[in-house]
Order: sequence, then C-alpha cells, then structure tokens
Amino acid sequence: MEERKRPQWSSSIAFIIASIGSAVGLGNIWRFPYIMGEYGGAVFLFIYLLLIFTICILPLISELFLGKFFQKNIVSVYEAIDKKCSIFGWLCIVTAILIPCFYFVVGGWILNYIYISLTDLQVADYTVYFADFVKSPLLQPFYTILFLILTVGITYRGVNKGIEKANNIMMPAFAVILLILAIYTLNLPNASRGLEFMFNPDFSKVNMKMILIALGQALFTLSIGMGALTTYGSYLKKDAKIVRLSYVLAFFDTLLAVLAGIMIFPAVFSFGLEPGAGPNLVFITMPHIFNQLPFGNLISLMFFVLIFFAAITSGISLLETSVLTFIEKFNMSRGKAVLVLTGIISLITIPTSLSYGILNGTALCGFNLFEFLDFATSNILLPFNTLIICLVVGWVIKPSNMLITKRRWCFKIFNFALKYIIPIVLITLMYFGLEG
Ligand code: TRP
Repeated sequence: MEERKRPQWSSSIAFIIASIGSAVGLGNIWRFPYIMGEYGGAVFLFIYLLLIFTICILPLISELFLGKFFQKNIVSVYEAIDKKCSIFGWLCIVTAILIPCFYFVVGGWILNYIYISLTDLQVADYTVYFADFVKSPLLQPFYTILFLILTVGITYRGVNKGIEKANNIMMPAFAVILLILAIYTLNLPNASRGLEFMFNPDFSKVNMKMILIALGQALFTLSIGMGALTTYGSYLKKDAKIVRLSYVLAFFDTLLAVLAGIMIFPAVFSFGLEPGAGPNLVFITMPHIFNQLPFGNLISLMFFVLIFFAAITSGISLLETSVLTFIEKFNMSRGKAVLVLTGIISLITIPTSLSYGILNGTALCGFNLFEFLDFATSNILLPFNTLIICLVVGWVIKPSNMLITKRRWCFKIFNFALKYIIPIVLITLMYFGLEG
C-alpha cells in the first residue's frame, strides 16, 4: 500500500508556484489590507514582516521538512514518528475538511460577482444586493457548490496535470492582473492618501493584541498548521533545499499581500470611503467604486477574476491535504478519495452557505456556522496543530536531524525557538484568541 508510486513536482519552480498559490488567497486580498489598516498600517506591516521572517518561518520550514523527509501524507508522517501521534495527523485532516467549508462559501461570493460583472448587471446599492445574495436559499448554495466543483475538478486531475497546471496558468495571470490594477488605482485622484494610510506608521498602536493578530494572520496566510505544506513538501525531491524555498515563499506571499493593499486602498481613499469595512470591503465598497469608474465592469471583472485565482489555488491545497491522506491511508484511487471528500465537505458546506439566510443565528457560542468555522479553525485548530508540529520537530525529531544548516549558532537559535519560544507564543495566541 505504501509503495504506490507517488507523484512529484516537475521542478522546484513548479513547487514554488503551487505553494505561492496555496499561500496567496483570500487572506491576502481582503483580510491583510483590512487588518493592516485597522492596526496602524505601517507599524502592523513592520511587526508582521518581523514575525514572518523570524517566528513563522520555522514552523514553515518544519512542515515542509516533514513532508520532504517522510514523503507521506500528514497522518502517516505522525504515525512514522510515533503510532500514538496519529491523532494529531487526523486533527490536521479535520482542519483540512473544516476550512474549505467556509472558504468555499466566500469562493461562491466571488463567482457571483464575476457573473454580475460579465452580465453588466446594474446594481444600485451593493449593501442591499450583497445582503440579499447571502440570504438567498438557492443562489448562495448554488455558487458555493460551483466553486467546490471547480476546485474538485482540478484536484481530481492529480498533482502534475491538475494542481501544477492550474497554478502555472493562474498564478502568473494573477500577478499580471494585480500589477495592472495596482497601477490603475495608483493613478486615481488622491491615491497618495491610500498609500499614506498603508505606509505611514502610527507607533501608538503597538500592543499585545495587535501582535497576536499579526501572528494569526501570518500563520493563516502562509498556510501553516494543517499539513498543506507537508503535503506539497511530500511531492518534493529528497534533495530539495527547503530553507531557501521557504524564504522565497514567505517573500512572495508578503509581496503579493502588500501589492493587494496598494491595489485597494488608493481606490478606497480616492472615493473617500471607509477602509476598515472587513469582508464588506471587497463585496460592497469595491463594487461601489467600480460602478463609478470608466470601464467599471471590466475593472470589476479583472478584480474578481484575480481574487478567484487566489482563492481557488488556495482551495486546491486545502483539498489536496485530505485527498492525499485518503488515497494513502484508505488505499483509495484519487477519483474515489476526491468523491468521498466532496461528499463530506458538501454536507457541511451547504448548511454553512445558509449561515446568513435560513440558518442565520447565534447558536454556536454566539456565532453562526460560517463565523464559528472561521473562528474555530483560525484561532484554535491552526495554532494548536502548529504547536504540535513545532514540539514534535523540536523535541522528538530534533532539528539536528533536519540538517538544514551547518552553522552552529543558527542551529542553536532554531532549536531554542522551536522548543520554547514558538510554543509559548502559540499558547499565548490561543489563550487570547479564545478570550476574544
Ligand atoms: N493561505 C490561504 C489564504 O491566505 C488559505 C489557506 C490555504 C490555508 N491552505 C491553507 C490556511 C492551509 C491554513 C492552512 O487565503
């Protein structure tokens, strides 16, 4: 069973593109710019960068290492370390099943907005339009399932013909559209106020909560804490240089998030709108702006296609983590694993897509199902899984076995951080995250 021929990336570049595809998603396009604005702009950016390149880079390297070293799915990796640890692998799979359930709902929103941009539908008030859309008992689940089917379709075709190919087409297209839109919005009147908002630091806003928010965002955006990187890492050749690859990945993820901000804020400020609108920023504020621009429909179409590419390439990595596990653990064909998982995910995703409509309520700790899944995965499951990965690599595997560096001082820091610093930081993050 274990000897099934495993797929492999056709090159390191293919791996990098697919990992950037996984990392760059909804987290970068609307969440990052919005919370960056809320938490002091440039100061947040500075702390975020510091966290990414010091703290987060270590679990990132560790996750990739586990995949590359064991060449297995996340559950088998934990089993190979210790049979009793397999529960941690399954917890990653639970996370990998739950994140798509709300992520794909947002994917559905994007598809709907692509449709309205294409059909030149005139919407007078996007606040009303969006509220009606998310309430709709048919349209909302329809678009969610459509997004699911598109993601599943790519994953079904396998690592090289599906995941690699989709990323090779969509990620360069993503970068080109992002650049065009950023240049376009930078040329709007008063664009500089948007840049000031992003890059003019307000140091009075530094506080513990902001640092924790920055850390949570950094983990989510780098796709850490679910085994997605282990999965992608397991398709690497054994001699791949994961430390360098990790830095390249972190660099591009950050660059694209900042570019997304440069695309959004000048436009928002140019129209004198509110930058801290959260999810509404992309689905209400931006369409409102597009409506008033020359060639607004074309700009709107480009904008939502851009977010679609970002979301689906991340969706693929979310799905592939459990697909690979089902293939290898239950000895299933890819087709069957994809089908079974689509069934399981649909069962939760469809009710989730009704969270703002007929299933609206606050039954789950004050949240509706959508908000609950978002909260539980980002604030509890992802940091917990990351904690376990750091502890396992730090204490059980020991970084010395990872042979990632020959420099002793580097290794000492790496070792100390993985064993003590990051676990403490993560526990603090979870504690405050739960406090709300
Ligand atoms: N990183 C993606 C984003 O920013 C989301 C994502 C994809 C993810 N795969 C993941 C998050 C694995 C956590 C774990 O939107």
